[in-house]
Amino acid sequence: MSVNASTADPRLEGRAVRRIVYDAPAIAKRVKELGAEITAAYPDGELLVLGLLKGSFIFLSDLVREINRPLQVDFLVASSYGDNTVSSGNVRLVYDPETRLEGKHILLVEDIVDTGRTLNRLMDLLRARNPRSLEICALLHKHIAEELKYDTRFIGYDAPHEFLVGYGLDHAESFRHLPYIASLQ
Ligand code: IMP
Ligand code: MG
Repeated sequence: MSVNASTADPRLEGRAVRRIVYDAPAIAKRVKELGAEITAAYPDGELLVLGLLKGSFIFLSDLVREINRPLQVDFLVASSYGDNTVSSGNVRLVYDPETRLEGKHILLVEDIVDTGRTLNRLMDLLRARNPRSLEICALLHKHIAEELKYDTRFIGYDAPHEFLVGYGLDHAESFRHLPYIASLQ
C-alpha cells in the first residue's frame, strides 16, 4: 500500500484514508463555478439560501461567498424519527427558519443526496409556503436517489458510491472538519 501523507493526519483519529476523492483546491474551484452558475440563474428577486444542517455548514459558508448578488442565509435542522439507522422518510423540522419564505427564491443547500428521502419531505414542506421558486443545490449527488421527486438543479460533483467524509460530511459526527473529501479504510 502506498504511503499517503494524509495517513498521518492528526484529525483522522487513527483512521487511514483510502483515497482523497476531492482535495481542497479542487473543491474551491468547483464551489466558485457553482457560485457563478447560481449568480447567473437569479437575475432578480429576493434569494434566501437555506442550509440543511449540519452537513452543509462548510459548503454553504464557502458557496455564499461566491454568489455575487444580494441574498439572505438561514438554516434548517431536520430530524428523521422512527427507525434511526435507516432513513425512514419521516422527517420533521427541529429548527424552522424564522424568515418568511413566501415570494422569495429559495435555494436549499444540502451536502449529499443519497436516497433523497430527506429532501422529498423537506421540499414538500417548503413548497407549501409559496416561495417564488424552490431549487436544490447539492455538493455531491450519488445518483442512486430513485425516490427523489425533485430535480437537483445545482450539483457540485456526481459522487462515487463510497461513504465519504470531510468538508462537512461526517461519520458518527467525526471528520466534518477535514478540508478535503475522502473515503476511509
Ligand atoms: P438521504 O435522505 O438518504 O438522501 O440522506 C442524505 C443524508 O445522509 C446526507 O445529508 C448525509 O447526512 C447522509 N449521507 C449520505 N451519504 C453519505 C456519505 O457518503 N457520507 C456522509 N454522510 C452521508
Ligand atoms: Mg450525516
